[in-house]
Amino acid sequence: MPSTRTIQILPAPADLFRAAAEEFVRVGNLAIAARGRFTVALSGGSTPKSLYSLLAAQHGAFDWDRTFLFFGDERHVPPDHPDSNYRMVHEALLTKISIPAENVFRVKAENPDAATAALEYENELRRFFALQSGEFPRFDLILLGMGPDGHTASLFPGSEGLKEQSRLVIANWVEKFDTHRITFTFPVLNHAPQVMFLASGPDKADMVHQVLEGKRTPPYPSQQVQPIDGRLLWMLDEAAAAKLTR
Ligand code: 6PG
Repeated sequence: MPSTRTIQILPAPADLFRAAAEEFVRVGNLAIAARGRFTVALSGGSTPKSLYSLLAAQHGAFDWDRTFLFFGDERHVPPDHPDSNYRMVHEALLTKISIPAENVFRVKAENPDAATAALEYENELRRFFALQSGEFPRFDLILLGMGPDGHTASLFPGSEGLKEQSRLVIANWVEKFDTHRITFTFPVLNHAPQVMFLASGPDKADMVHQVLEGKRTPPYPSQQVQPIDGRLLWMLDEAAAAKLTR
């Protein structure tokens, strides 16, 4: 079934995060009703922090016992490092909800060898989703952000990881930061039935326009997120959508 692409534009950041929280809960409740569990890969960076805080504050009643949280990417740092996506999620969400510790799958990015950390995480996914070789996990929801350079997760323009079509999780060398990042690969992102990008603020407007309305060769990483059999939802505030022509 071809995937669909929906763009939702909300007036202000507060409206964006409220709508994103409602969509998270809607998708989660449907997954739990249909399959008894909700598997979601969280995005990092700064944008989703407000979403996670809102989920913690407004949706304490959400069924976290049947929700399983993963990370679409992680910096190659320990979990208490200021740059750690886990630390951000822990502070914004995990400390405020009662979710069983075994429902949260942290990337062990403290491992000095990023490739080992990636392989360990990949094996966790294989175990959790009971994957046969060559199979990819289908998360009920994957949250993504987009950098001003068009990257998503830790799939940066020009990086080797863009080419990966068989691994689930890799250590991707990111030249501009002179470091590895551990990240889901495009096959994992594109196997999800629902992928939700969140972008907020004027500094994303130019790239949002290029990604959603432009044609680039090679495409920006954010343009390569095309769910094979699923729904691609871009949730923007007006500032991030300001340069869209349609
Ligand atoms: C990360 C994210 C990354 C992020 C974008 C946007 O680990 O940083 O996974 O892909 O979503 O860089 O980041 P901001 O939300 O901070 O603009």
